[in-house]
Amino acid sequence: MERTHVVKNIASQLFVAVTLMALPVRLLHATETALVARGRYIFALAGGCGCHTAERGPVNAGGRPLKTPYGTFYGTNITPDPTYGIGGWTDRQVIDAIRLGTRPDGTVMSPVMPYPAFSGMSDEDVTALVAYLRTVPAVARANTPHETALPLFNLLMRVWRWVFFAQPHPPATAPREGVERGRYISEHIAHCQECHTPRTVFGTLDRSRYLAGNPDGIDGEVTPNITPDRETGIGDWSENDIVTLLREGFLPNMDNVQGLMALLIDGIPAGGYKDMTEEDARAVARYLKQVPPVVHRVTR
Ligand code: HEC
Repeated sequence: MERTHVVKNIASQLFVAVTLMALPVRLLHATETALVARGRYIFALAGGCGCHTAERGPVNAGGRPLKTPYGTFYGTNITPDPTYGIGGWTDRQVIDAIRLGTRPDGTVMSPVMPYPAFSGMSDEDVTALVAYLRTVPAVARANTPHETALPLFNLLMRVWRWVFFAQPHPPATAPREGVERGRYISEHIAHCQECHTPRTVFGTLDRSRYLAGNPDGIDGEVTPNITPDRETGIGDWSENDIVTLLREGFLPNMDNVQGLMALLIDGIPAGGYKDMTEEDARAVARYLKQVPPVVHRVTR
């Protein structure tokens, strides 16, 4: 009797000890998946990083052509493949690629990769994004070289960055709500200004016409004026109209939006703007409603 009691006692203590030992592992696992889930959401807010997935191609394996006035650039392989993707890069190197436009080999990316926009992404969000990128299947696909007539391309990209890119001071955490959250998502994750703002001859954003449309956009697409100007922008759209466009892809006249905008919303085949929470889409809509209206007619 006494003996069974002792054995039972030892057994129950062992059980408690083993459970306690397993707990940190389980907790770690729980935070890991929370981090990845958060990263997946950031990825969706960034339009599914759609430029990195070729039409009907594997997610993030690169190869989508982007026609610009400076040549045709191809989205690169950002899968965890160690040879052709970013599998061999450290987290810090991937974060620097996203926010600073640098590669581990010391070269600098062209601003077709919107690192100037991503430079303001919070530490928390960019860390989560990198954790998510590591979970996407690796694809051994070599990058397609860019086709550009720009002379001394690598040197030029370095000089461009040196002249036009200011060392960013990204926040540790992103604003959680309100217009500030809308500004943060638009500017630093969804990078709306990169397509919707006309560019100067140096390829930089013409901030005096912020979001006023680009007649000469990527892939030759005319990108509309989305400032609140009533005549030439979207001043007559309601906040709900903007939310519906971002989450469902419908224009106020119930047509489907087209081109790259549709790609970012659908985020084919991974997440896209359509996965924005109602609150986040509303924050973006509120933010757009209060940027200065600019009279700038871009015709399709
Ligand atoms: C990769 C380029 C790109 C990015 C980034 C982008 N857009 Fe667009 N957007 C377009 C293009 C191109 C169109 C025109 C599509 C068409 O012709 O149907 C468009 C259309 C729109 C329209 C419809 C305007 C109208 O008058 O029909 C709105 C509103 C809009 N975008 C808002 C946004 C917002 C808000 C963001 C950021 C959350 C954003 N866009 C990011 C390229 C982009």
